[in-house]
Amino acid sequence: MITVDLSGAQSFFNEAGPDYATAAEAHRTLSGATGPGGEFTDWLSLPSAFDARELKSILSLSQKIKKLGNILLVVGIGGSYLGARAAIELLKTPSHNTICGSGATEVYFLGNTLSADAINETIALISDRDFCVNVISKSGSTLEPALGYRVAKALLERKYGRATAKKHIFVTTDAENGTLRAMADAEGYESLVIPSGIGGRFSVLSPVGLLPMACAGIDIEAVMSSASEAMLTLDLRSPDNPAWQYAATRQLLYTQGKNIELLASYEPSFRYMAEWWKQLFGESEGKNGIGIFPASLEYPADLHSMGQYVQDGPRTIFETVVSFANSRTSLSVPFLMGDPDQLNYLAGKDFSQIAKIAKQAVKAAHISGGVPNIEITCDTRDEQGFAQLICFFEVSCAISAYMSGQNPFDQPGVEAYKSNMFSMLKEN
Ligand code: PA5
Repeated sequence: MITVDLSGAQSFFNEAGPDYATAAEAHRTLSGATGPGGEFTDWLSLPSAFDARELKSILSLSQKIKKLGNILLVVGIGGSYLGARAAIELLKTPSHNTICGSGATEVYFLGNTLSADAINETIALISDRDFCVNVISKSGSTLEPALGYRVAKALLERKYGRATAKKHIFVTTDAENGTLRAMADAEGYESLVIPSGIGGRFSVLSPVGLLPMACAGIDIEAVMSSASEAMLTLDLRSPDNPAWQYAATRQLLYTQGKNIELLASYEPSFRYMAEWWKQLFGESEGKNGIGIFPASLEYPADLHSMGQYVQDGPRTIFETVVSFANSRTSLSVPFLMGDPDQLNYLAGKDFSQIAKIAKQAVKAAHISGGVPNIEITCDTRDEQGFAQLICFFEVSCAISAYMSGQNPFDQPGVEAYKSNMFSMLKEN
């Protein structure tokens, strides 16, 4: 279950407080698909509507990939890779490829950079071994993954020959449109479909995220059944809905001059969840000259680099801290003979207890420095917790964007850079 604690933000609220009437209206617009971009709201019902046979076929595809080499190279950018990477880092570990052993498939990412050095590094890691490729693109026309596909295809053909290489390439794209669909059909690649009513950054719980997650050994059936329950809970029409609380508080703080939101977590495995969240909120809300700037920090590491700015810089920040109520493991502080650092009063205490107190201390300091604090708590860092967080942020984001009068589902700014880049590349 997701809970939102607004106690650290309340002292910053104006008399009216969060505008739940507008949140209710935004929620009606979202669920009725009556607002701008309403044709891209199928992600709301996808977890409950997802075909069990499709889920099984994604699972058997992950087994096939395992047999073909136990390495998956995911080629995609933005919404076509961030969710899967977030899931793998959060539910497995950021070191998944190093410590997964032979049981689970290693998952690497390409198509999100134009750095030759970074691409060559990935190639060096996998090219001597057997591997498969999952090219993911909703539009099928994004430059970075299109070039990544070329690189991966050339590698596979060199290794296996043209005919066998085709059996190592799996495509996830639109059912009908785009160059990638045309190539998949022409080459005879096995393919998965991104439903047309779901945009890139809302697609993690579709085949886009599910195949890489299944390959990494994540229980995607548990993810989808938990997501289905979470969507039901988030449909509550009341100020008790955590999505209303979060969305309405963000919008209130924004009107009061807090135009930067820092998403912080004390879990290093949350890093890519924050990257996914930045895309979700940044692309959905930042348009027409308005929008909260989404940034992320990892505590306590960043308290020693950005802590000064948060405490004492321009007072335009609010902070959203995501925590898990239960730690997966425990570790107690060792006793040190002679107590040279005078920290033996902590000996025997669990790190999670210390983190809890550190969190309270940071919260109090930041509030006293003028930084409103929203606390989001999720029970456990597992498939259920992941699904709850994804659904919570997606629903909150759409409600928040509608509250601010934006279409949450387009990204005209991204399209502007894409078309500029293509025309300049053709000229040079
Ligand atoms: O949210 C979106 O739709 C975009 O940010 C996309 O995820 C991103 O641009 C990648 O696009 P595509 O999957 O079409 O290659």
